[in-house]
Amino acid sequence: MRRSLSGLPIPEIRSFDSIGSTNDEAMAWAETGAPDGALVTADTQTAGRGRLGRRWVTQPGTALAFSLVLHPGPEEIEHLGLISPLGALAVCSALEEGYGLCPRIKWPNDVLLEGRKLCGILLEADWQADFLRALVIGIGVNVLAGSLPPAGEVRFPATCLETVLGHAVDREDLLRRVLVAFFEWRGKLGTARFLQAWEERLAFKGQAVSIENAGGPPVTGMVVGVDPSGDLCLRVDGGEEIKVKAGDVRLRPVE
Ligand code: BTN
Repeated sequence: MRRSLSGLPIPEIRSFDSIGSTNDEAMAWAETGAPDGALVTADTQTAGRGRLGRRWVTQPGTALAFSLVLHPGPEEIEHLGLISPLGALAVCSALEEGYGLCPRIKWPNDVLLEGRKLCGILLEADWQADFLRALVIGIGVNVLAGSLPPAGEVRFPATCLETVLGHAVDREDLLRRVLVAFFEWRGKLGTARFLQAWEERLAFKGQAVSIENAGGPPVTGMVVGVDPSGDLCLRVDGGEEIKVKAGDVRLRPVE
């Protein structure tokens, strides 16, 4: 793997056959000095985690599961709300350029193919008072048929690359493509080009969606776009445009 990732700004790599969660490993490593771009990969995760406290299943030999340690610079700290979309954009670019696919981003950061979830992203931060010690971005992609989570465990329909393409995909090649795109888009974080690229791939644009918030009642509206801080712009009944912050929210299309 080291060879296939050569030339990328990844100073150190820790690869595991099996681990609890690559995010946990990356966060522990960050606490003991992991450099920016340090990469943790695993073939299997026994305690993979998703957003909103959910489980993320990574079966042996079937998926991509990796985490990057980031030490954002001052300009990147201005755009923290764009870091997990950066991961989604990187996965989209890899799928477009490597496999001719047409992925979409379900705000804030799930990657969909043919309307089904292919990839999830978990961003975690290590704050010490007001100081951001490190970010860990964890990306999980369903690659081969065996990667699909058990039907009873998914809240949104899932798919994998093998199903969509009709043939198997080399996971190392996919990993390289995602990481190349990640570092390219990272250099454009917060630019008009970045925001346009995200918006062009936004799923359900012009369609009605419902946003479920951990605390309050769901909000329904039409997806208009994203704003420069990464908030979702929704047009609600009466024509007013509101902004929704990423966080403990879940977006679903209205049937
Ligand atoms: C989600 O869709 O809820 C986010 C899923 C994130 C899964 C990835 S797999 C690599 C990394 N390690 C984890 O434990 N989670 C992330």
